[in-house]
Amino acid sequence: MVNLGLQRARHGAALGTAVAIACALAGCDRETNAMPTHGATPSAQETAVIHPEQWPKLSPPVQDSPALNARLEALLASLSIEEKVGQIIQADIGSVTPDDVRKYRLGSVLNGGNSGPHGDDLAPAKKWLELADAFYEASMDTSGSHKAIPIIWGSDAIHGNNNIVGATIFPHNIGLGATRNPELIKRIGEVTAIETRISGQEWTFAPTLAVVQDVRWGRSYESYSEQPEIVHEYASAMVQGLQGEPGSPEFLKGKHVITTAKHFVGDGGTFEGRDQGDNRASEKVLRDIHTAGYTAAINAGAQSVMASFSSWQGAKVHGHKGLLTDVLKDRFGFDGILVGDWNAHGQVDGCSTTNCAATINAGLDMFMAPDGWRALYDNTLAQARSGEIPMARLDDAVRRILRVKLRAGLFEAGKPSSRPLAGQFNLLGAPEHRSVARQAVRESLVLLKNAKHVLPLKPSMNVLVVGDGADNIAKQSGGWSLTWQGTGVTNANFPNGESIYSGIRSAVRAGGGKVTLSANGDVKGKPDVAIVVFGEDPYAEFQGDVDTLEYKPGNKADLALLRKLREANVPVVSVFLSGRPMWVNPELNASDAFVAAWLPGTEGGGVADVLFAKNDGTANHDFKGRLSFAWPRTPEQVTETRGTEAPLFAYGFGLTYRDTGELDALPETVAQRRDVASTREYFSAGRAANGWTIALADGQSRQPLPTGIGATADGALKITAIDRGAQEDARLLNWSGTGSASFIIERNDPIDLQREANGQLSLVFDYRVDTAPAGGVSLGVECHGGANKCASSIQIEDQLQRAPKKEWQQARILLSCFQQGGADMRAITAPIVLSTAGPLQLGIANVRLDTGLQGAVTCQ
Ligand code: BGC
Ligand code: BGC
Repeated sequence: MVNLGLQRARHGAALGTAVAIACALAGCDRETNAMPTHGATPSAQETAVIHPEQWPKLSPPVQDSPALNARLEALLASLSIEEKVGQIIQADIGSVTPDDVRKYRLGSVLNGGNSGPHGDDLAPAKKWLELADAFYEASMDTSGSHKAIPIIWGSDAIHGNNNIVGATIFPHNIGLGATRNPELIKRIGEVTAIETRISGQEWTFAPTLAVVQDVRWGRSYESYSEQPEIVHEYASAMVQGLQGEPGSPEFLKGKHVITTAKHFVGDGGTFEGRDQGDNRASEKVLRDIHTAGYTAAINAGAQSVMASFSSWQGAKVHGHKGLLTDVLKDRFGFDGILVGDWNAHGQVDGCSTTNCAATINAGLDMFMAPDGWRALYDNTLAQARSGEIPMARLDDAVRRILRVKLRAGLFEAGKPSSRPLAGQFNLLGAPEHRSVARQAVRESLVLLKNAKHVLPLKPSMNVLVVGDGADNIAKQSGGWSLTWQGTGVTNANFPNGESIYSGIRSAVRAGGGKVTLSANGDVKGKPDVAIVVFGEDPYAEFQGDVDTLEYKPGNKADLALLRKLREANVPVVSVFLSGRPMWVNPELNASDAFVAAWLPGTEGGGVADVLFAKNDGTANHDFKGRLSFAWPRTPEQVTETRGTEAPLFAYGFGLTYRDTGELDALPETVAQRRDVASTREYFSAGRAANGWTIALADGQSRQPLPTGIGATADGALKITAIDRGAQEDARLLNWSGTGSASFIIERNDPIDLQREANGQLSLVFDYRVDTAPAGGVSLGVECHGGANKCASSIQIEDQLQRAPKKEWQQARILLSCFQQGGADMRAITAPIVLSTAGPLQLGIANVRLDTGLQGAVTCQ
């Protein structure tokens, strides 16, 4: 692997060869190449206007004593401007040390989904607690006449304290929505708070209060329901469970933590369900549907709110004063901390991740600045000094942060390890916690089909268990489980968890039956029943965005398995794991019973509790789950509220053992699939991926090359097919040295890679240097945002020269390098442009985007 990233991305007048050629051909405006300018005139920020008087006026319940207020004002008045700026910045533990906190007086740290103590996401709870102490002690260090202000650590404990090995992991919110049990939600909040205190954190970034209107969104599973009622009811239950009762001595203290109502507001209503996209709803819909959870959370005393990455009517919420200040703070009376989302301020017009007075002036109180906090600190300090951020606004932000810290008793609490519950690691995954989770699993299961009353099963039966979800705790837990995407972990990483298979095995063994686990469904003899556990593989955020609700359009292996069992006359019970309702008509047809199990978390045993009766046939637990999202009749039916056709199973549907569970055969044909451009893959198996074309350019012209084999008119670049892993799956690019030429993968309609760039994805490809380059070689992207053509590239000749000859290697360049170089990632038309005047002979294969940070390089 060569280091392709040591060069700074270039832009503006210093653009590399690729841009020079692209501009010559496409007529770039050199002046506008530098930084893309966003938005039309007038800007969305100006037209997306809110009418605050039409929003409810709330009075949140927390009353502060005069003593607390006096202490707060005195402390605030004693702070230097540097200390104030430090308070409003939150950095990620992967990019900040206790010494940094001591020096810059940062108000908060967080651990992103992929961060753990000392770079170890799977570090034991003890290490988390030790690190919490180290940050706390740094924040309380008064040397240099600094004021002692306890730091707060925010963590995504979104379904249990899910970042910590051994914690109890509850069903994701979509499953909890099906339970219709607010008492249980409160209990889950209590247990989550306890387990969060054990590892030393005092602030969770939960609950998510999205009211999802399009389940193609990859975060649909973080939503309780598509209907505002459930979200409203659960918001108060969860906030109360996590924080305790306002006014009680244990509020925010002891076994409670600070909550975050997120993502304010409208994250669940973006166009086509696109993560971080644009919510185009009317002000009324934004208020009546998307705000439903916030009014309840604030009335229950929620002490923080996270601003949404998304836009409303084209304007990024992080820059929207009407929503952040006029509605949330003035109308709703919210007096806690309004925290930003992961570098989201960088998406506001005119801002970058390290520079954004606009979001503070719009009402944000704390930047979530995971990796860019250091430069952001300098810029924010300069803006506070110059008055670009008015002192009154800065004071208001700091006052809110100090207020919450005082309310939570942190000034008196001592170091994290000295607080109640801290270090009681035996309580992570304690039996009483697991039994709450197991109840939640039981109550979340929704029975969609039960032909001939195949369920419940008798535990004396001969049971075959199959499917790749059967013995797979990671898969049943989904995203935000130990790792951000929920991938890269095995059952061994869940020491207190139980797989669905393991729960079935216990039930069957206790009932005198026989159980066999088989990966492929092959089994000797004829079982009485087969339980097939299958479904979506874990994902988080944009990585779960899909274009169609059809279950695994490109891979029908699970369906084949169901049909194979059916053909062998084995009754089939399907247990479907998914983060959303999906179009599974063929799978429903091929099953005798079908259970939507969502993402149940670590207590897989809850499934067997319901599927298995006593040996006399009477049920132990009946099905209670009711759909909190309608189940689609077609792959395009993204919610009940869209389209004219009734859904296959309406909101509220769910069979019990008393019902007749027959289901007529359902249509299985899918209307012509939309030809959607692949956003993650550009060249594989010897072909440009769906929606992409290979093109060549020389000094005179640019032409598409559908087969990916051919030459420029002047012969400066010739492409032939070569073999990498399979026949003709790669290309050899041969620059003769007679003139500049480029190899390009392109399309006309731009794709939006903003989210991917912010999520630290890299452009990855395999390459092989046959003849080293003689001159400069640039690697870049092209884009166009409205009228502005733009591009950005890095120089790679040094690295190619150093690479061992004729050996395949992998190149990996952070997408954000191109963003920093000035490319508008929202409008990429060519994710790879390779240019040189030659000579150079370079093999290339498998051009794609990839999440792994392994070997990824920064641009500085
Ligand atoms: C997510 C938030 C999360 C934050 C910290 C963001 O990307 O949108 O929900 O709390 O990261 O991990
Ligand atoms: C997530 C973080 C995560 C990071 C990884 C963000 O969008 O919210 O929690 O660790 O991406 O790149």
